[in-house]
Amino acid sequence: VRHLLGIKDLTETDISLILETAGHFKEVINRPIKKVPSLRDITIANIFFENSTRTRLSFELAQKRLSADTLNFTAASSSVKKGETLLDTVNNILAMKVDMIVMRHASAGAPHFLSKHIDAQIVNAGDGTHEHPTQALLDAFTIQQKLGDLAGKRIAIIGDILHSRVALSNIFCLKKMGAEVMVCGPATLIPRHISELGVIVEHSVQKALAWCDVANVLRIQLERQQIQYFPSLREYNLYFGINKAMLERLPKPITIMHPGPINRGVELDSSVADSSHSVILEQVENGVAVRMAVMYLLANRN
Ligand code: CP
Repeated sequence: VRHLLGIKDLTETDISLILETAGHFKEVINRPIKKVPSLRDITIANIFFENSTRTRLSFELAQKRLSADTLNFTAASSSVKKGETLLDTVNNILAMKVDMIVMRHASAGAPHFLSKHIDAQIVNAGDGTHEHPTQALLDAFTIQQKLGDLAGKRIAIIGDILHSRVALSNIFCLKKMGAEVMVCGPATLIPRHISELGVIVEHSVQKALAWCDVANVLRIQLERQQIQYFPSLREYNLYFGINKAMLERLPKPITIMHPGPINRGVELDSSVADSSHSVILEQVENGVAVRMAVMYLLANRN
């Protein structure tokens, strides 16, 4: 694999190798000396055409831990604002002898388009409503660290599935690793043909919580919705919001995940987000090790 454009392109063996390598890097970054010289001859540009906190900082830190040289580009403060095209922008960055591009873009397929036109490796850091592969890998790694082997585990993805690249990448990743996957949310926020991906569809959040070992809770993505959506945030919280009382009614404890950013009081109450059930900050911690693994394996592929 030359690029990481999506989980759809990976095999179970590819994913297992990334998760195993991430395990080694997690040990490294917990040592007093957190850096390794593995990518000291590599220059990586992080080009973000959409806002990000976790993904951008996590990639940059992962690059620093691997001793790569890094460049950070955000569209909002760039000559994109003067009308420069995506391809011209990237070709100008590559003219500075850059080896790898980490890219976030609002358009689905933007990294796939670039991969056909440039001679550098590309890591997709989220493309529109399509894929967010490193988020799915860090989610899988976090579940593995918490519960062991992914095969047979029951994961419920709850929220705005329709607009979520995290949901699609998670479904591909978890299914390839042998987990059972359920999606849960209002019918208006679940793609009509999603069961063709081998997932169970559920509209009762209480039933989804009772079924699963892990609930991966997603936010309502207002920025991707073209029309006034249904339900409203208040209605969403009333029918799909997860609070502590709901977890206390379950027959067994479950693990709560969220890719961030959280809309507190909408999809998750703070009493759940900050509880002992939550591994949300462990996901963020694991993101650095997983991104180190991805860039290390891509740079060293034969
Ligand atoms: N999970 C995630 O992609 O967060 P950011 O948008 O802050 O990068």
